[in-house]
Amino acid sequence: MKNPVRYTITSALPYANGPVHIGHLAGVYIPADIYARYLRNNGKEVLFLGGSDEHGVPITLKARKEGVTPQDIVDRYHNIIKQSFKELGISFDIYSRTSNPTHHETAAAYFTKLYNEGKLVEQTSQQYYDEEAKQFLADRYITGECPHCHNEKAYGDQCEACGATLNATDLINPKSTLSGNPPVMKETKHWYLPLNEYEPWLKEWILNGHKDDWKVNVYGQCKSWIEAGLHPRAVTRDLSWGVKVPLPEAEGKVLYVWFDAPIGYISATKEWTAAQGRTDWEKWWKDPDTQLVHFIGKDNIVFHCIIFPCMLKAEGSYILPENVPANEFLNLEGDKISTSRNWAVWLHEYLQDFPGKQDTLRYMLTSIAPETKDSDFTWSDFQAKNNNELLAIFGNLVNRTIVLTHKYYGGIIPEMGPVTDLEKEVMAKVAEFPQRIGESIEKYRFREAQAELMNLARLGNKYLTETEPWKKQKEDPEYVKTILHLSLQICASLSVLCEPFLPFSAEKLQKMLNLNNKNWNDGGRTDLLKAGDKVNEAELLFVKVEDDAIAAQVKKLEDAKKANQLANAPATPAKEDITYDDFQKMDLRVVTVLEAERVPKTKKLLKLKVNTGVDTREIVSGIAEYYEPETLVGKQVLMLINLAPKEIKGVKSHGMVLMAANADGSLSLMQPAKNINAGSTVQ
Ligand code: MF3
Ligand code: ZN
Repeated sequence: MKNPVRYTITSALPYANGPVHIGHLAGVYIPADIYARYLRNNGKEVLFLGGSDEHGVPITLKARKEGVTPQDIVDRYHNIIKQSFKELGISFDIYSRTSNPTHHETAAAYFTKLYNEGKLVEQTSQQYYDEEAKQFLADRYITGECPHCHNEKAYGDQCEACGATLNATDLINPKSTLSGNPPVMKETKHWYLPLNEYEPWLKEWILNGHKDDWKVNVYGQCKSWIEAGLHPRAVTRDLSWGVKVPLPEAEGKVLYVWFDAPIGYISATKEWTAAQGRTDWEKWWKDPDTQLVHFIGKDNIVFHCIIFPCMLKAEGSYILPENVPANEFLNLEGDKISTSRNWAVWLHEYLQDFPGKQDTLRYMLTSIAPETKDSDFTWSDFQAKNNNELLAIFGNLVNRTIVLTHKYYGGIIPEMGPVTDLEKEVMAKVAEFPQRIGESIEKYRFREAQAELMNLARLGNKYLTETEPWKKQKEDPEYVKTILHLSLQICASLSVLCEPFLPFSAEKLQKMLNLNNKNWNDGGRTDLLKAGDKVNEAELLFVKVEDDAIAAQVKKLEDAKKANQLANAPATPAKEDITYDDFQKMDLRVVTVLEAERVPKTKKLLKLKVNTGVDTREIVSGIAEYYEPETLVGKQVLMLINLAPKEIKGVKSHGMVLMAANADGSLSLMQPAKNINAGSTVQ
């Protein structure tokens, strides 16, 4: 194993078309942050990069839908994302964005270099074009009938009904979403990275070179991509939003988002060095003593293991990633996380709903990180992890130790008293933790590493429980000094070793202990604290998560599910045609409600007195579950006044108030859009 002097750690740049959710955190940002913090505490030179990916078609689609510019969209989400990462303690050295001028220059220059050196292949092809919008159509701008399941709203790249991956040319009756017209085929020219030429090299570099150190899931995906045969891949697109292709003949073309975005890591490095008045960004990307590690989710594997490395290789002066520890996916309450279905726990909302509980989320997500297979987040598990682990194990050790130190010694750390075999054994065990936890982190096994950390807290608790200082203070006060001295030292170790995982708690704990030490290996010492020094009053490290907070989150998800089902509920099929005469038979009027009251002993019925314009009459209406009677007085509603009278629950009803029934059965009154005379006919 080489011993790198510095680390360039990247985390996938999230698309700035929505906020960040727990799936992103568990898969990418929390593991990357643990890794970066751990290495820094080991005295390594670390550059931890993040930023928003601000190009790509989904951003332009969202902008169109909202009637704003793509820049408005990315500004909105970049700021939300950046702020929420900061609040969660993700310790980026820089959080940049790909709409920055430095990035546009860097990405364009990268393209130019490949172009000038003949590393790109020029090719023309036929693409769909919208003649009215005068624009080539990205796959997402084309809809049509799916050739497999005949869903009529399939996209040019995918059918969301049956899940099939499609080419735009597969669609039956394709239509442009811009004009609604059928698109035409038109010739266009693009530049391609000939991935096929890199196949032998990729086989050597990944399949032979990283068989043992890359994760099984990552290696497996690379293997199947490479073995299926690689093809030239277009690195330009006919779009207006993105990094302009720096060639005079490329008017109206931009770099493909997956070409520019990973270059964003390099641009961010330049910005970061420039912000410190330096120009030495290259050592982070070109010095073989630098170790490059990409943290990503599994959907990004091909881009970070095959395409971006080929770009780096083609350019020629860059180092390659040493590892790409991609994670699988996190589910939520047994269901796939989905932005469009609003089935997610959004970070910015979590931070509002659980102020001060950043470490709880970090702990929870690390403990269920989808490192080898998909995993599931449930709110009840979240509560249990906080209350039964963080609070009952870690918090309890710290609290007992500090409270007793104040009770017996007024907060002054006692001298170590007589030492028995038990203390020797405990100290020897503490000494092993930095290496044990560190080894797991270096293998990207963050779950395992965090579980080891908790074993240190368990060791401390077990020691306290076995020695029972609260029972010995009278007859053996000298030994109690030993117990509390050592327990305080264990708290100090914990405060060092928990920092990468639980940075907020680490800081709080060090404040309590009057300690300021982030040196990883010192976490194995049991002499960090000095006898005679003072510790501060115990502060709660972790606060209980109550049942009602969990119930509120579960309800939020249930509401999202309902709203979503409702939004997607199909309309009831159309009825048979009728004639205009049939329609004319109905005497439909706008009427004004004069009085309203409940029909006694019924849940659903209201008795209304209405002015129909021709008379005043009483009717019974089944809307009591949706409207309070007093809110109806004075309202204008629609009514069928010539429906034959009928007795309902002892009240004669002369007509029927019209209502719209939603898919969930709820009812809504129909009201005229503007005030109109009572008795106006509906036609
Ligand atoms: N925006 C992409 C995603 O969310 C990730 C881009 S990573 C980068 O899937 F390397 F391209 F920046
Ligand atoms: Zn389909």
